[in-house]
Amino acid sequence: MKPPLRHGGESVPIRISDAVAADDRTELEDRLHAFNVESTGFRDARDLSCLLRDPDGTLVAGIDGFTWGGYAQIEVLWVSEGLRGNGVGRKLLEAAEAEARKRGCTSIVLSSHEFQAPRFYAKLGYRLVGTTEDTPAGHRAFHFQKHLAATEQLQPDVAVVESIRDARPDEALALERLQRRSSDVWEEYRAELAANPDAIEPPHRAITDGRVRVAVDACGRRLGFSVVLPIRGDRCELDDLFVEPDSMRRGVGRLLVDDVVTRAAAAGASYVDVIANPNAVGFYERLGFEHTGWSSTRFGDAPRMSLELT
Ligand SMILES: CC(C)(COP(=O)(O)OP(=O)(O)OC[C@H]1O[C@@H](n2cnc3c(N)ncnc32)[C@H](O)[C@@H]1OP(=O)(O)O)[C@@H](O)C(=O)NCCC(=O)NCCS
Repeated sequence: MKPPLRHGGESVPIRISDAVAADDRTELEDRLHAFNVESTGFRDARDLSCLLRDPDGTLVAGIDGFTWGGYAQIEVLWVSEGLRGNGVGRKLLEAAEAEARKRGCTSIVLSSHEFQAPRFYAKLGYRLVGTTEDTPAGHRAFHFQKHLAATEQLQPDVAVVESIRDARPDEALALERLQRRSSDVWEEYRAELAANPDAIEPPHRAITDGRVRVAVDACGRRLGFSVVLPIRGDRCELDDLFVEPDSMRRGVGRLLVDDVVTRAAAAGASYVDVIANPNAVGFYERLGFEHTGWSSTRFGDAPRMSLELT
């Protein structure tokens, strides 16, 4: 077999390591930097960094990145738990933006995992330019850019539903995962669901039939979804309704039900029925559903509720 690399006549084995010495990393980065400079002519790379420490020297917040060739990149922004919610992250980011502007940057880029702070960046005027799936498994990462020279147009809060659309076949697994996260908010069913993972399945068939609707925010993030059964006579059954835990109690469920109602009415239905999770009865009551009976499910008896469409 041909060796992967030859150096001075000797084959050089490739061994991937899970640790790298700081000096080795610096050497590697310097080589790449030299190549980048040669390729672009931009020699102005500088760190863009601010660390906040308390009087003991303990790190309590910090931001770190760089500016180079007219753009800035934030690689780390962290605020200790005790300081969160006080505007420290915002101040650090705004200070970094101001410094980047001073250095002539017209753009700043950064990434955030969906479980970190995508809403925070959207609120501060960052525009979503891309997402990557399963980074890490089951989670998306959002990639943002903000133009620093232009007048900053604040983006809407991404927790707000931007639109409700048909589900796509390629998002069946993502919807299944959303359903698991959402279902897990009810503590009393968690163990049973974990013991019966087959109780939740990706809604392939319903998606193909056009019976799944997805609520998304301004960044395209899925906030929740609904599934209906095929309409029978004048009745439409809401089969599934799930909202992402961090977006609950913000009107997402209501909008998804409104969407089901509008579509059911347009298709000639007079009622929307649901077998309600007992914990969600209050929610359906707020939306005008009435208790009509009981159904037995694999997790016990559950109330049947109906909304008459006027
Ligand atoms: C139940 C669920 C769909 C509600 O969606 P949501 O986006 O959190 O609810 P909304 O913000 O639209 O709430 C609309 C109204 O119902 C109320 N409400 C929401 N959840 C409620 C609950 N569990 N109990 C009582 N009232 C509730 C809200 O306070 C709001 O009241 P308002 O009219 O005074 O503003 C969501 O919590 C969820 O996905 N839960 C886990 C999965 C589940 O149980 N799905 C239902 C299967 S039948």
